[in-house]
Amino acid sequence: MNKRRLVVANWKMYIDSPESARRFATALRKKSRLYKGVDVVLAPAFPLLAVVAEKLKGSVIRLGAQTISEFEDAPHTGDVSAAMLKHAGVSFVIVGHSERRAQNETDAAVHAQLERALLGGLSAILCVGEKERDVAGSHFSLIESQLAVLKNLPHKAVSKIIVAYEPVWAIGKTSAEAMKGSDLREMSIFIKKTLAEQFDRVAALKVPILYGGSVEPGNAHSLMAEGDINGFLVGHASAEIDQFLDILKAIR
Ligand code: 13P
Repeated sequence: MNKRRLVVANWKMYIDSPESARRFATALRKKSRLYKGVDVVLAPAFPLLAVVAEKLKGSVIRLGAQTISEFEDAPHTGDVSAAMLKHAGVSFVIVGHSERRAQNETDAAVHAQLERALLGGLSAILCVGEKERDVAGSHFSLIESQLAVLKNLPHKAVSKIIVAYEPVWAIGKTSAEAMKGSDLREMSIFIKKTLAEQFDRVAALKVPILYGGSVEPGNAHSLMAEGDINGFLVGHASAEIDQFLDILKAIR
């Protein structure tokens, strides 16, 4: 395991108060020697970005956002633009999460969000993942079509893209129900092959691939060791400091 590892905490709405966000960020900072060599990003909900940014000042832990507007500026009530995120200290943004796709976020919207993120100087974590699997392997063509949102982006943008493979059927369960490392390996190879067809091959192979879907301390090590991935996008276990630290320790 000598490649750079990246773990992104997608807090969703699990951490929902400034006090708990501050407590988490402070505790994580204090324990940084436990996860040396692992890059960590915290992605709180919008109202908590400022308090987390404050607590992370001067640390190597980076700030992420859970989504971004597909528009550049006004008038879009309720949206948050790339420039606003940048001002808030954000450097990573999650796009196309399945929980947002379930609220009618289309591939076209995801493509526009990607463009906004990249033009705004942010790194974009593109989520892809099938709802279910069948023996015919239709999940592969679905992933291929979700990755097609990367087409027509400038080739040099590829260095700011991270792909998070999150099978919807494995989200919000337990580690026992999550994907197995060997199945994950097959998918990460497929994703790399698909990216290599779209971009310059050498650059495409450098795109980090994360796995998300019930990553817990119990399965983190085997997913990392067998899955041919660069890290994780963690949901529920990223909101519990002890579990999150155990995941980081398991893969350092
Ligand atoms: P869980 O880790 O809760 O399954 O969530 C995964 C996820 O959706 C991260 O973006």
